[in-house]
Amino acid sequence: EASYTLVQDGKLTVVAELGFAPFEYIDGDGNTVGFDVDMANEVASRLGLTCEFLPSQQFDTIVPMIKQGGKADVAVTAMTITDERLESVDFSDPYLASNQALITLASSDATEESLNADGMRITCQAGNTGEAWIRENLPNATVVPLADVTAGLMGVQTGRYNAMVVDLPVATNMLSQSFSDLKVAEEIPTGEQYGIAVSKDNPGLTKAISQALADMQSDGTMAQIETKWFGS
Ligand code: ARG
Repeated sequence: EASYTLVQDGKLTVVAELGFAPFEYIDGDGNTVGFDVDMANEVASRLGLTCEFLPSQQFDTIVPMIKQGGKADVAVTAMTITDERLESVDFSDPYLASNQALITLASSDATEESLNADGMRITCQAGNTGEAWIRENLPNATVVPLADVTAGLMGVQTGRYNAMVVDLPVATNMLSQSFSDLKVAEEIPTGEQYGIAVSKDNPGLTKAISQALADMQSDGTMAQIETKWFGS
């Protein structure tokens, strides 16, 4: 007998920002796909539920949505487990380790040091751990948070921004897909861990999800999903 509540009977209702390939994005056929989508579907099925992704939400509205509850049961959106977020929501056990990337024009010789200067404009997705990293490590630069990662990358292409900071697996994926004139100038070893965010009012759901994730680790399902999206 399930010891948790759901916003829709028989469903795991998921909220995400769907512009973050290869974790969650809309493919050419209009389908919601990615590593997190496969993982969430598998978790839901192990709980005897179907998985429904809601329409994309701006990233910095997602923690408040989960905190207030009502619309989605969980956020599965490459979300890093942070102390600040843990004040508002609970997280499952971690399911993937990640780092940040500093992205510039391929032709640029800018470094973390040269970018930490008056007049430098550094973009990021609003509310991401990358934004916090810029504010802490490039305090002399101007931070320009945007809703959309693609808009930030295009702005680096056109010279509107000197650099962008975003999760390294996303930088690697998106640069190889469509931004060959950009490069990862520096990898930033933040050692982040992604988790599934759940309302603090629903601890039974957090526990059931962590159990499903542990089972997926030990039976090889997680490794299969990783190979599908990141290669072997
Ligand atoms: N891992 C970073 C964070 O938690 C970025 C997550 C952005 N996710 C997204 N689907 N746009 O802040």
